[in-house]
Amino acid sequence: MSIKFTAEKLEKVKEIIARYPDGKQKSALIPVLHLAQDEFGGWLSAPVMDYVAGLLSILPIEVYEVATFYSMFNTKPVGTYLLEVCRTGPCMLNGSDEIIDYIKEKLGIGEGQTTEDGLFTLKPAECLGACGYAPMMQLGKHYREHLTKGKIDQLIEELRGKSKK
Ligand code: FES
Repeated sequence: MSIKFTAEKLEKVKEIIARYPDGKQKSALIPVLHLAQDEFGGWLSAPVMDYVAGLLSILPIEVYEVATFYSMFNTKPVGTYLLEVCRTGPCMLNGSDEIIDYIKEKLGIGEGQTTEDGLFTLKPAECLGACGYAPMMQLGKHYREHLTKGKIDQLIEELRGKSKK
């Protein structure tokens, strides 16, 4: 895969950089990393991070340290569907451990692993700010709330169905 944003995305990168004073282009790093993650397969490889460093005229290490610090960035390949199940206090008290164990058993994967068909990755997460809907998970840009084993069954079925279309 060639690592280069489309012309449209490059315009977006310029627009983001222009939000900050001259010489402070590093401030654009997080939104540009989001764009890069969306564009290049849902994760940030070293060549992608190097490309971003070049765009922002900063050192690759400055990109690596941010990408590896924040959990919303993936520095390893992930499946088509990333199941980020919250396991912090309120979610844990409402059964997130059982939900995580159920997903592991159902999909035959451990934490941080991807199913052989490349569809699902399980990633336990820290509080996602939706404690009132515990236990919950983030799936792409959406939240799935008040999770139960039945809801997990439905969700997996729904996503497998979508991937066949
Ligand atoms: Fe799970 Fe806050 S503890 S969303």
